[in-house]
Amino acid sequence: MDIVPFLIFALFVKNMKEKLNKIDESAQNFIIKSKNDLENFRLKFLVKKGILNTLFLEFKELPSEEKKEIGQLLNNLKKSIEGIYQSENSKLNKEENINNQNNELPGYFSELGSRHIISQVLDDMIEIFERLGFSVSTGPEIEDDWHNFSALNFPKNHPARDMQDTFFVEEELALRTHTSSVQVRLMEKGDLPIRSIMPGRVYRNEAISARSNCFFHQVEGLYIDKGVSFSDLKQTLYNFVKEFFGPETKVRFRASYFPFTEPSAEMDIFLGTKTESDNRLTKGTGWLEILGCGMVDPNVLVNCNIDPKTYTGFAFGLGVDRIAMLKYGVKDLRTFFNNDQRFLGQFQSL
Ligand code: DAH
Repeated sequence: MDIVPFLIFALFVKNMKEKLNKIDESAQNFIIKSKNDLENFRLKFLVKKGILNTLFLEFKELPSEEKKEIGQLLNNLKKSIEGIYQSENSKLNKEENINNQNNELPGYFSELGSRHIISQVLDDMIEIFERLGFSVSTGPEIEDDWHNFSALNFPKNHPARDMQDTFFVEEELALRTHTSSVQVRLMEKGDLPIRSIMPGRVYRNEAISARSNCFFHQVEGLYIDKGVSFSDLKQTLYNFVKEFFGPETKVRFRASYFPFTEPSAEMDIFLGTKTESDNRLTKGTGWLEILGCGMVDPNVLVNCNIDPKTYTGFAFGLGVDRIAMLKYGVKDLRTFFNNDQRFLGQFQSL
């Protein structure tokens, strides 16, 4: 190539480079703060009649030697401008999303669990007896014949065993029918005196209805010491009832029979007959039985290696589910165990 055309060529390329740089610079410095700015950017650089396209049209007219050099620069410029457009566009979209979020939508709500109402009632009962000086003991739910029956003065084949329809696991093993079995275990340990309550679940083979279930809960109480009398028993139970149901609660003792206590009694509390459910629960009498009790039968003490000439004691067995029904006006025992959250959720606790 002659020197003159070469110089013209070099000058042209230099000018072109400067022009493209300037355009690139103006694209970089274009202020884009809104969708509107972005659209102006697009109109200036990217549409058919915009700067880029015009440059490409000019480019087509160039002689082929110049095309080589300039082509690359032009492509770079195109990439750079399109890149700016895309990244600014996605930045603005993101901002728009954030601004459009409705801050008043409710947050994700996670349900707070709470203790089962029967556990809450059990805890309340335990707390009252602890204040009266009782400790808490527990025993197994699968129990042998000795602890559930024989030691408690139920002779073999005695009809008293029929009072409690039993679920047998094996011949000599059953689901305990009452928490009185824990009394025996405690007395057998021989740590006297004993002043303890024994909360737990018990099982009976009964038809399920609004008033009875095949499992329920009891709190057994046992006080063995020298000189314990029936009046101690009455005072303890009065105290409990007044604490639990309120100071005005009316109670009565009725003579009863249990093989393991002598004398035996049952305690009723007065509900009245004002409401339909009080009538139903009390079978029209106004009174509802909540516990069995009595002085521990000397035979039971002997069975547990305690000398009945030195020691006497009282025992009682409270029905927890019944007490929960009474306290909270629950009409059907089964609702405690259907696991319906609409029911259980009414009894919130920490
Ligand atoms: N174990 C009896 C029952 O389940 C209740 C009971 C009655 C317990 C008298 C006692 C008691 O400790 O002295 O029906």
